[in-house]
Amino acid sequence: MSCENLLLPFMIDRMSSADLPDVLSIEKESFPAPWTPGMFKRELESAHSRCLCMRINSSNRNIIAAYIIFWMISGEIHLQSLAVKKEYRKRGYAGALLKKMKEIALENNVAVQTLEVRESNTEAIKLYRKSGFVVKGIRPKYYTETNENALIMWADVNG
Ligand SMILES: CC(C)(COP(=O)(O)OP(=O)(O)OC[C@H]1O[C@@H](n2cnc3c(N)ncnc32)[C@H](O)[C@@H]1OP(=O)(O)O)[C@@H](O)C(=O)NCCC(=O)NCCS
Repeated sequence: MSCENLLLPFMIDRMSSADLPDVLSIEKESFPAPWTPGMFKRELESAHSRCLCMRINSSNRNIIAAYIIFWMISGEIHLQSLAVKKEYRKRGYAGALLKKMKEIALENNVAVQTLEVRESNTEAIKLYRKSGFVVKGIRPKYYTETNENALIMWADVNG
């Protein structure tokens, strides 16, 4: 493994409004229709939403390398957003955030995790399959800005 691909030690903790500038910059480089600051603020204020940041120390600077947002409702976890800063991709950070989500599911007796992903997002689909998700259905033209279908994926937390 080359130096630039090393998994640096990380810490996962709650996102706060002070993190939003860094989170929004990752969001913008990651999605064709990025969330607005207002959408993130609503998630931070919502009782059923968990917003977590992955923080690393690189060259003596604290950096947000990735984040995950999910809802816990009616005994299910719904993944809302997951993104890794471009320069820190392919090091295992997204996998580590999904592992954390599963730990939280187990702590809260949540049995099922679900998400929607663009049909064309092969990297993310591979990541989710590796983390135990399987495709359960399709939402046709779910992404209105591109008319793209979403795959619905599920994972049994205890499976
Ligand atoms: C998808 C994304 C979150 C993956 O983050 P990451 O930290 O690079 O992923 P990881 O390093 O934890 O990868 C875990 C597994 O995912 C798959 N994967 C991740 N990136 C991949 C790529 N570019 N090509 C192929 N497979 C990939 C692989 O199976 C990988 O395991 P491996 O390294 O043993 O092959 C990241 O590319 C990203 O932020 N993309 C833009 C936002 C996005 O699409 N989010 C998901 C929305 S549903």
